[in-house]
Amino acid sequence: MKGDPMDSVREILTEEAEHPPAAPPKPSVPKPGRRELTWVGFLAVYCVGFAVFGIYRYLTLDPSISRLGIRTDLPWHYPLFITHIYTAVVSIVLAWIQVWPWFRARHPRAHRIVGRWYFFAGVFPSAALAIPAALLTVSGPDVRLALLAMDACWIITMICGYRTARQRKFGEHRKWMLRNVAMTTSTVTLRPLNIILVETGMSYEQAYASATWGAVLGHLLFVEWYLLRPKKKRRPVPGRRS
Ligand code: HEM
Repeated sequence: MKGDPMDSVREILTEEAEHPPAAPPKPSVPKPGRRELTWVGFLAVYCVGFAVFGIYRYLTLDPSISRLGIRTDLPWHYPLFITHIYTAVVSIVLAWIQVWPWFRARHPRAHRIVGRWYFFAGVFPSAALAIPAALLTVSGPDVRLALLAMDACWIITMICGYRTARQRKFGEHRKWMLRNVAMTTSTVTLRPLNIILVETGMSYEQAYASATWGAVLGHLLFVEWYLLRPKKKRRPVPGRRS
């Protein structure tokens, strides 16, 4: 009988201990083009810029400098309101990273980690707290309804985005997350819209409600157009079989 079979096992184990298998190579992904860098850069400034603008009045935890009215009859209104804002800031600071195609393809692990923070420290708590925050708004019933509709879209797209990721239906996940990020960023668009509508002579409450509806519908229409638009055919590369 030839040598002990355990010898070859030992040999393999020693070989592996001395030369551990290399980490799997990172996927080779071409560098992002100028067009991609332009829109990602714009989106990053839109998101991070608004996060700074959104939070700075609430850093001192002083309700008297809040941009919106706080209910003095409910002592928990302000804590609830600012917890919504702090968690919303997490979501908007991370939103642009998650929709960046190059980042997703080149760093899939980082995409998953950032995605968990986006969901669990950002959209989930923020969207949940937005329900009582909307119900308690001091800006009247039209604003209340518009904010609740905005939140419903945020919550539905969040649940669908999360479920499709868990089910590993990545094509569907991408679409739902684009819709969800469209909702996260609609809060930015509503601010300048609000100012424009006030300038046209609307009352503050009318402008606030219309700007909220306008931003939600505008962002949803844009993202649906983006998903449904006819895709350009790729030019065949000479010498490569299709
Ligand atoms: C898109 C889904 C969102 C919904 C449904 C929502 C809902 C709300 C509601 C109901 C209020 C209270 C409004 C009032 O009292 O009249 C509020 C205030 C606020 N939210 Fe959100 N929010 C969303 C996203 C965000 C995001 C992504 C940010 C990012 C920073 C954000 C930042 C703020 C700020 C800063 C306020 C206080 C108002 C101000 O200072 O201008 N929200 N939000």
